[in-house]
Amino acid sequence: MAFTPHHVTETSPRGSSAEFDVERIRRDFPALAQKVHGKPLVYLDNAATSQKPQAVIEAEEHFYRRDCSNIHRGVHELSERATKSYEDARVKAQRFVNAPDSKEIIFVRGATEAINLVAGTFGRKYVQAGDEILITAMEHHSNIVPWQILCEEKGAKLRVAPINDRGELLLAEYEKLLGPKTRLAALVHVSNVLGTINPVREMVESAHRKGIPVLLDGAQAAPHLKVDVQDLDCEFYAFSGHKLYGPTGIGVLYGKAEVLDAMPPYQGGGDMISSVTFEKTIYNSLPYKFEAGTSNIAGGIGLGAAVDYLNGIGMESIAAYEDELLAYATEEISRIPGLRIIGTAEKKAGVISFVMEGIHPHDVGTILDQEGIAVRTGHHCAQPLMERFGIPATTRASLALYNTKREIDTLVMGIQKVKELLG
Ligand code: ALA
Repeated sequence: MAFTPHHVTETSPRGSSAEFDVERIRRDFPALAQKVHGKPLVYLDNAATSQKPQAVIEAEEHFYRRDCSNIHRGVHELSERATKSYEDARVKAQRFVNAPDSKEIIFVRGATEAINLVAGTFGRKYVQAGDEILITAMEHHSNIVPWQILCEEKGAKLRVAPINDRGELLLAEYEKLLGPKTRLAALVHVSNVLGTINPVREMVESAHRKGIPVLLDGAQAAPHLKVDVQDLDCEFYAFSGHKLYGPTGIGVLYGKAEVLDAMPPYQGGGDMISSVTFEKTIYNSLPYKFEAGTSNIAGGIGLGAAVDYLNGIGMESIAAYEDELLAYATEEISRIPGLRIIGTAEKKAGVISFVMEGIHPHDVGTILDQEGIAVRTGHHCAQPLMERFGIPATTRASLALYNTKREIDTLVMGIQKVKELLG
C-alpha cells in the first residue's frame, strides 16, 4: 500500500529567528523549570536523551486525545487523520536530512534498531565468510555488536580503524583498511564520548572509490549539525528521535532507494506485505516493506513536531550557539587542576568527557546530582573506546540548544565541590 502525502501540516511553526534567544527557548521545555534536590535543574545529559519542547508533548497528546487509531488500514476519519499526521512526519524527517524521497525514510525504534536492520538484511544478503565490515575505534556498542553478531554468523571479520590520543580518526589507516573484502563501512558521525566530528564526507568518498557502501551512525550528529544525506552520499544514515528533542522509541533509517529495494525485509508481519498466500508472500513497496506491525504512531508524529521545532530555530543557528557554548565550557573546565578532558579533537560537538585524579566518575556524578546537575558517568556504551584511553569510565557533560554559560558555571562550581569533598 502506498501513501502519497499531498500537503504536510507543520505544527507550531516558530518562524525563523536570526538571533538565538536561549532564555525564550528554555521556556519551551517544561522539564527545565524544575528543581532537583532543592536546586535548579542543570540538565547536561543530552547525549543520553534530550528534554522535550511543549510542541512535541502536545503533538503526542493530541494524537492520543483525538486521533488515536491505526494507520494505513481504516477507512474511517480517525485512521485517515492519524495516517496523514504520521506520513507528514515522514516527509518532515525526509526534508530534515535532505533525502530525495520520503520512501527512503524507514521509521524504526531508534538508531540502534536502524543499524540492526541493516546488519540483519543488507548483512544477511551480502556478507559471506571471509568478508569484512569496517568500523572505527570510537563506535558506540550499537555500531559494534550488530556487526559482531553478523560476523559470527557468517564467518566474516570486523576491522577497526584506529584513532589518535585526541580522539581523531587516523584517516590514512582508515583508508588502508578499506580493502577488497570490505562489504560495508559502518562509521559514527559524532562520537557520544569524545564529541569528535568525523570527516564523514571524505570517509564516504574514500569508501566509494573502492566500491564500498557506507552506513553513518548519526545518533549524536542529527541533534547538533545540519545533515544532508545527498551531500554525504552515504548509503544509510541512522538517527534517534529522542536525542533530537522528540519522543523515545522512534528513529529513522535513511537508505538509498535502490539499496533498500534490493534488500530482503527485516521483520515479517502486517503492513510490510502486498499479498500473502501460504505458498508465497509479495512484499510491500518502500518504506513499508521494512515497517512490520503497528508502528510507534504517536512517536512518529512527535518526531515530526520536533523537526518543525528545530526548523523554526534553524540547525545552523543551533550549531553556532552550541559551538560557542562548547568553547566556553572547554575553557572553564580545563582550568580545573587534576581534571583531564578525554576527547580533544579539533572538530567537536558539545560533549565533554573528563576524568579527575583519584576520584571515581560515579562519585563525581553523585555529588553533582546533589547540586541539581545531571551528567552521565560510566563507559557510555563504548567499552572498547574506554580501553583505548586506558580508563574504566568518565564523567560526561553533554550540551543541548537550551544550555547556558550560567549552567556551565554551575557545573564548574559543582566540580570544585567534588574536589573539596573527595580530592
Ligand atoms: N547512547 C546514549 C549515550 O551515549 C545513551 O548516553
